[in-house]
Amino acid sequence: MTENSVDNQTSPVPHGGRFFTAQHADPHALDTERLAVIGYGHLGRPFALNLRDSMAPRGAALTVGNVADEYADQARADGFAVLSIGQAVASADIVLILLPDEVIPEVFVTDIAPNISPGMAIVFASGYNLAYGLITPAEGIDILLLAPRMAGENARQRFLNREGFFAYVSVEQDASGKAWRRVLGLADAVGVLRAGAIELDARREADLDLFIEQTMGALLGLSIMTAFTVGVDSGIPPEAMVMEMYMSQEMEMVFRSFREEGFYRASSVHGPTALYGGFVRTMQFLPLDLGGLFRKVLAEIQAGQFARQFQAEREAGYPMLRQAEALSSGDPASEPIGRAEAHVRTMLG
Ligand code: NAI
Repeated sequence: MTENSVDNQTSPVPHGGRFFTAQHADPHALDTERLAVIGYGHLGRPFALNLRDSMAPRGAALTVGNVADEYADQARADGFAVLSIGQAVASADIVLILLPDEVIPEVFVTDIAPNISPGMAIVFASGYNLAYGLITPAEGIDILLLAPRMAGENARQRFLNREGFFAYVSVEQDASGKAWRRVLGLADAVGVLRAGAIELDARREADLDLFIEQTMGALLGLSIMTAFTVGVDSGIPPEAMVMEMYMSQEMEMVFRSFREEGFYRASSVHGPTALYGGFVRTMQFLPLDLGGLFRKVLAEIQAGQFARQFQAEREAGYPMLRQAEALSSGDPASEPIGRAEAHVRTMLG
């Protein structure tokens, strides 16, 4: 498949870019390529397992590069040959860099860049480091983006169920002349193209990802915590609060109907009381100028301010991240909301 034939056959996305499915990938795209998966964590493990299944019987053409830690042990237990990161990079034609985003700049300089040679491809699962100038890959190599919109664990399960999962793809640098063939071949082999991939460059992929996490994601979390506190303070049982907000699955159905019915149409299935109440309260909250706050967050992300802040957080030993992790990995029974969830789970068996 030539680069032009990729252009001619894809569906255009109405506001720019292309939409790819399995029919756009050359099933032989990886036939002569040696692959290295660098990092065997949340995404590295499912990607490596999916690639090995798709590449069989050429599974030996896939190695894992990892530091000596429990992730490397897991990769060996899963039957992979595990090399040092430098050795794995040097032995491959296509290198998938699946390390934590804030770790990549350092490892890229020490272990990856010195082992890259012309004609190779490096693949990122997030546009983050490319977008904010945290790494500067050499010329003469392909630079590819394959950024799934799916948590790693689900990426494996959906692959096994033959369902696929969405991703953004782009070619940031095409030195080999076969960059699109490579990225679409990979997208197909990891299972993405059974669902589909939208073309989006690294810059916009990174801005979009951070923007939604840091606005909608942050506010959703804050809304849940605030509603819980206010509701419980007013005498509503904590168990009823968590049931109302997520344990009953009603909210999951709301998000599902956003997808299936459409965002506005989904509201119409809730009956007049919910529709009227939601509408008038939305009007009441409008003066909060969330748009202004969101624009500020996006501007900070786009200026690279967040990326610099996160690198400084790493250099300081992750003081804020540790606080966030303590909340997410601490004993749920130490928080009223966690206790309420535990009671509901017990009640529901
Ligand atoms: P992770 O935190 O699970 O990565 C763990 C891996 O990184 C292990 O192999 C570990 O040995 C290695 N590692 C950690 N610190 C290291 C260091 N200082 N030096 C060398 N190796 C080190 O990372 P995750 O979440 O899998 O993310 C990988 C990439 O995939 C990122 O670019 C992320 O944005 C992207 N991504 C992740 C998704 C997910 O579900 N977690 C979903 C979509 C994209």
